[in-house]
Amino acid sequence: MTQPLRILLFGAGNRGADVYGPYALSHPDQLQFIAVAEPDPERRACFAAAHHIPPDLQFTGWEQAVRAGKIADAVINATQDEDHHNSTIAALETGYDVLLEKPMATTLSETVHIVQTAQETGRILMVCHVLRYTDFFQKVKHILASGQLGQIVHIAHSENVAYFHMAHSYVRGNWRNLSHSAPMIVAKCCHDLDLLYWFTGEQAETLSSIGNLRHFIPENAPPGAPDRCTDGCPASDTCPFYAPRIYLHNYPIKAAVAKAHNPLLRAVGRLTLSQPKLADALGALVPPVRTLTRYEGWPRNTITAQPDSDEAVLEALKTGPYGRCAYRCDNNVVDHQVVSLRYPSGATATLTMHGHSHEEGRTLRIDGAQATLLGKFSYSQAWLEVHPHGPGKVERFTFPTVVDNTSGHGGGDAGVMRAFVQALRGQHAPLTHAEDALESHILGFTAEAARLGEVSVVLEKVKQGFGM
Ligand SMILES: NC(=O)c1ccc[n+]([C@@H]2O[C@H](COP(=O)([O-])OP(=O)(O)OC[C@H]3O[C@@H](n4cnc5c(N)ncnc54)[C@H](O)[C@@H]3O)[C@@H](O)[C@H]2O)c1
Repeated sequence: MTQPLRILLFGAGNRGADVYGPYALSHPDQLQFIAVAEPDPERRACFAAAHHIPPDLQFTGWEQAVRAGKIADAVINATQDEDHHNSTIAALETGYDVLLEKPMATTLSETVHIVQTAQETGRILMVCHVLRYTDFFQKVKHILASGQLGQIVHIAHSENVAYFHMAHSYVRGNWRNLSHSAPMIVAKCCHDLDLLYWFTGEQAETLSSIGNLRHFIPENAPPGAPDRCTDGCPASDTCPFYAPRIYLHNYPIKAAVAKAHNPLLRAVGRLTLSQPKLADALGALVPPVRTLTRYEGWPRNTITAQPDSDEAVLEALKTGPYGRCAYRCDNNVVDHQVVSLRYPSGATATLTMHGHSHEEGRTLRIDGAQATLLGKFSYSQAWLEVHPHGPGKVERFTFPTVVDNTSGHGGGDAGVMRAFVQALRGQHAPLTHAEDALESHILGFTAEAARLGEVSVVLEKVKQGFGM
């Protein structure tokens, strides 16, 4: 029997411990975490206990772990963006194959350096572009490859980041400031730029981009809003970013479940919103209902080590970054950006990213000479429709979503793990190899440069030319 791969984890945070950790525990035939590198003692101990890692294989950081030489078959690198470069170079040079979280790095030169080091060392370096592994996007690729849409003329792809996800990650959280993070168009949308590259099979030849930080600035704060939501904010009933509603009452998650395709899930979601006490009582009796009434998952589990405790969550809001007024943070990344691309074939594409969506999800439209493909891939709904231009019926396909799938990203998180194992066992070429992922990073970093350079026509000047 093939032995499970022995994995060293860099970073036992949300992705490492809460996403890849559980995958390993439920697929012991595929891989086993035999060592962990994590500076936070609580996270390190918790991960080590869950995976039965002995003390001599618990390290306080990737730096100590690589000093021990090659102790595992491969590394999964789930550290934060700004730690990716040095840790990945060190892992590759120690002789490890690596599965690296996206984005590969926070600058283009570091990204290129990582890819070149993988080439020079001859190691496998895969990037967690998890969306390529979902049934939904695999189907899009399949429809495109079938030729059913005819010649592709234009792709309009949108990454509609939900209002609370924007506030959590890009205003209050880890990806809010360019001094620690890649630009949002790279951090959030290297996935989407990667999909556009994968769909078209072409490297874009021209790119332009516009966007800015419009909303999350002090001038837009509600009158009288204090620095923290928990300090008696007068706008607590109306402000969408009121932190206790998001983290303490888990409102956005319940609202997403209330829109699920699955009628049972939808009914439970609606009950938690309309009759919270009744739902709570039901949750005490029915464990699956309790996963929603006593929700402990993302984003709640990223703000405290005790997501099962309302007291701990409230304390995190009173003292930590996630309780800050969303208009008074040290954020400087955009909250909306548009990228336009033209390909050598003559096809064009637009990527629209914004952080003010009522629900989390991507929407997609591909117009070809023979048919139009429409799609929605959100937390609670995932469907595709092919509308032929000539006679013929509309085809509709539906898929599992984040809400009704145990694996995050609509099955993509499990998919990338399975693919990494298969790549290391030589069973499959890696679908999201770093050399391939480089294209999306080049597009993202270049889009940011284009946005900052504001290379666009100033309409005022055109009007002035006509004396207007
Ligand atoms: N593939 C996806 O769709 C997806 C989704 C979300 C996040 N991400 C990416 O995953 C990565 C991790 O995100 P997260 O939300 O889990 O972050 P996190 O902050 O929860 O986890 C990072 C962990 O790295 C640890 N760390 C810090 N210094 C270290 C060191 N020297 N050695 C080892 N560990 C160290 C931190 O203590 C922390 O526990 C980020 O790059 C993020 O952009 C990818």
